[in-house]
Amino acid sequence: MKKYHGAYIKNEREISCLREADRLTANILEAVGDILKPGLKTKVLDELARDMCADYKVRPAFLGYGGYPFAICTSVNEQVVHGFPSERELQDGDIISVDMGVEFEGFIGDSARTYPVGEVSAEARRLMQVTEDSLYIGIEQARAGNDVYAIGAAVQAFVEAQGFGVVRRYVGHGVGARMHEKPEVPNFKPAVRGLTLQNGMVIAIEPMVTAGTYEIDVLDDNWTAVTRDGKWAAHFEHSVAITSSGPRILSISDRGLNRHTISA
Ligand code: MF3
Ligand code: CO
Repeated sequence: MKKYHGAYIKNEREISCLREADRLTANILEAVGDILKPGLKTKVLDELARDMCADYKVRPAFLGYGGYPFAICTSVNEQVVHGFPSERELQDGDIISVDMGVEFEGFIGDSARTYPVGEVSAEARRLMQVTEDSLYIGIEQARAGNDVYAIGAAVQAFVEAQGFGVVRRYVGHGVGARMHEKPEVPNFKPAVRGLTLQNGMVIAIEPMVTAGTYEIDVLDDNWTAVTRDGKWAAHFEHSVAITSSGPRILSISDRGLNRHTISA
């Protein structure tokens, strides 16, 4: 595969494979969203994801990645990312971030969304909406010729203007035959210049937004990231190809982009 400063440039076939991996990933995320309700154990979501992977004949990409023990990440309320599915029962008013990836013919899909469980507070809805909106504001900058850090600059400016924080410790990334490729895609503006985006690059843009401080801690399970102040967080992620006709979102389900469903 062709490379530009360490970042792979994908050809049409490779982008088709990524699109398929992301389509299936998005379908699974949507199916997970459909069964959410108070009283449901989060491990049931992992079971559904695994069953759908079996039906689709794809491999859950997170399972075993760096030792990660599940097919999906389920991060509830103050959990930011990488939460473990468990016996925990969802409660009315919770928010849950679900992160999912599959491998299709050697290519990795990666996408995430935050869903409300039952009736959530106005402030939680605003947190989810700002995070989702910030993702699309970031995607808008995913164009050939732009500095990759233009994405985070736009995300950060928008999120902070809404009074929320952007997580620094985890970032988006290039995605292809491996889940994490170059370049890093921060959700904030670094002080230096980044790589110039080129057509054929595929990146996962994934703002993690906090209601309070952006500082996080990792629990003793060595995975679950939680906000330091216990305030809630949201996470939305799309895999996006840089093309001559602009940013192309790959992680779209068969139902369509389904944007802004939260505030509807
Ligand atoms: N979307 C996350 C990421 O890009 C998913 C990784 S979870 C892991 O880092 F368990 F697979 F590491
Ligand atoms: Co990712």
